[in-house]
Amino acid sequence: MKIYKAKDYNDMSRKAANIVSAQIIMKPNCVLGLATGSSPIGTYEQLVQWYEKGDLDFSEVTSVNLDEYKGLTEENDQSYRYFMEKYLFSKVNINKDQTFLPNGMAEDEQKECEKYDALIHSLGGIDLQLLGIGHNGHIGFNEPDQAFEKQTHCVALQESTIQANKRFFSSIDEVPKYAYTMGIKTIMQSKKILVIVSGEEKAEIVKKAFFGPVTPSVPASILQMHNDVILVGDEAALSKIDI
Ligand code: GLP
Repeated sequence: MKIYKAKDYNDMSRKAANIVSAQIIMKPNCVLGLATGSSPIGTYEQLVQWYEKGDLDFSEVTSVNLDEYKGLTEENDQSYRYFMEKYLFSKVNINKDQTFLPNGMAEDEQKECEKYDALIHSLGGIDLQLLGIGHNGHIGFNEPDQAFEKQTHCVALQESTIQANKRFFSSIDEVPKYAYTMGIKTIMQSKKILVIVSGEEKAEIVKKAFFGPVTPSVPASILQMHNDVILVGDEAALSKIDI
C-alpha cells in the first residue's frame, strides 16, 4: 500500500484528483468506480477545474458508483445519482449513458443486485475505485458484519451510519434505512483502489482498517489484502499511524 500524507482536505483532494486524472489520461476509456460522501467532493471539484482548463476529457469514461439509497428517486436531492450529477456528471463531458448507479427505485431488489453485478462484469471490471471510509469502517455501504458480503446487495444501514448521514437530511426520519451497495468482492476486484480520508474523526478507523486485523467487523480492513491500494489522507486522518 502506498500512503500519501496531505496537509489538509484541499491538498488531499488535489492529490487524489491527480491520481484519477492520471488514470483517465493513461486509459481514456477507463471504468471509474466512484464514491459519494463529503470526502470526494473536493476531488470532483478539482477534476472539474482541470476539465474546464482543457486538461481532462471524460468523453470515453464509464463510471459505476459504489452505492445508492433504497427508495429515493434520481430527482431526490439526497440520492447519490443527484449528488453525482451535481458535483461531477453535469460539469464534465462524460456520456450520461455511461454513468451507472444502482437503481434505488427498482421493484425487484434481487434482480437489481444481479443486474448491477452483471453490468460491472460486462464492463470488464473497474480500473480505479475511489473510496471513502465510514466511521465504523464501512466501504460503500458494506457495514460491519459477521462475514464479508461478496456481491451487490441491499443492506440495512446501521444506526451509526444513519446518525452520520442525518446531517444531509432535514430530519432523521427521512434518512433511508436501506441501501444498495457493491459487494466486497467487486470492490476488491478493482485493478486499483484509491482511498481518501480527511479529519481527526477518521484517525482511529484509519489505524484499525489499515494496521489492525483483517475482519468483517471493520470492512475496510479487507483492503490490506489488495495489492494496489493508495491511501491519501490529510495529517489529521493519518495522525494515529506511523508513516
Ligand atoms: C457514506 C457512503 C460511503 C462513504 C461514507 C463516508 O455512508 N455510502 O461511500 O465513504 O459515507 O462519508 P464521508 O466521506 O462523508 O465521511
